[in-house]
Amino acid sequence: MRYHQLGDVPAKRHVQVRENGRLLTEEVLGFEGFSGNESILYHLQSPCRLKDIGSFEPIVREEWTPATHAWRLANTAPVEPASDPIHGRRLLMFNGDIEVSVCKPTEVYDGFYRNGEGDEVIFVHRGSGMLETVFGDLAFRAHDYVVIPRGTTYRFELDGDEEQVWLCFFTPGEIETPHRYRNRYGQLLEHAPFSQRDFHPPTELRTHREEGDFELTVRVRDGFQRYLLDFHPFDVVGWDGYVYPYTFSVDDFEPVTGRLHQPPPVHQTFQGPNFVICSFCPRELDYDPRAVPLPYHHSNLQSEEAIYYVAGQFGSRKGVEIGGITLHPSGLPHGPQPGLVEKALGTRRTEELAVMWDTFRPMRLTRLWQELDDPGYAFSWSEGPALSTVT
Ligand SMILES: [Fe+2]
Repeated sequence: MRYHQLGDVPAKRHVQVRENGRLLTEEVLGFEGFSGNESILYHLQSPCRLKDIGSFEPIVREEWTPATHAWRLANTAPVEPASDPIHGRRLLMFNGDIEVSVCKPTEVYDGFYRNGEGDEVIFVHRGSGMLETVFGDLAFRAHDYVVIPRGTTYRFELDGDEEQVWLCFFTPGEIETPHRYRNRYGQLLEHAPFSQRDFHPPTELRTHREEGDFELTVRVRDGFQRYLLDFHPFDVVGWDGYVYPYTFSVDDFEPVTGRLHQPPPVHQTFQGPNFVICSFCPRELDYDPRAVPLPYHHSNLQSEEAIYYVAGQFGSRKGVEIGGITLHPSGLPHGPQPGLVEKALGTRRTEELAVMWDTFRPMRLTRLWQELDDPGYAFSWSEGPALSTVT
């Protein structure tokens, strides 16, 4: 990320800063033990201040271990909207590097939340609202990736009665834009499919001074620890640095196209430890008259490939609805389903929109996936005779 500042910060770090005579509390919030990116926040109160320590609730993952290894499809459309943006996240798949949940919140969480053990990316399929954070307010809308670094205390406000459909990623590692898109100073290169202008930091810092009871839930040690504060946690009068939440709209992703088919890495949007997140966006297709404008069959021998279908018709899939997720696991090839390549020849444009995550270690599934699983998907390449005569 680039340097950003909101509110008032002093000309020098680590000096006395006062507001109406009151000495402010300086907090350095950073990664990798003072070696990674950091921001410096100026609080009215110590961010350690507590009224009480509440309960600790371990995270329980209801794993489903399928009896067979196969290509899988689950449709998240029937998942009923419920709960709030934190407790309403329903886990679909996970491994030690990433967790993927669907969330369709219908209400706000009155308390505050902070992830103390990982970064989050929320892809907003439908809905809009405001992410209120210790760094300031960040508006979000449909098709935004909302990236929330660990350590960010936040709460969501939701717009009106609008339906909210979110895909939530969690990683104990760091969410970054791909290193190959950046020069040695960190600036995004000309060939990157986005620029710094496409990343939107919080726009308004509101310093809260309210006293009272404020619940804070922190995800830490694979569970949720509750605390009770006696002062509003958004008590920052200014901050600056490189760590803060931001939005990036998938509609601002500039697709890379070519004479012949471009490989999946051109769609890469984020990277994390042992996984990538990619965006398949509406674009012109391969323009050579001999081109096959769909992916070739491929065996990703060291990765699992999951795609969430957001809008449009995905050219290489049939029978997959909006809200569906395909999981093409390691050890098996996959490619367009029968008839789709022939149908696509000569096509010059696609309106598909999808989010993909490739993981280098196997994904584990949950009971929710089992509920949504379509066991027929594995046979979707097997329609028609094995060999047909071309006449
Ligand atoms: Fe693939």
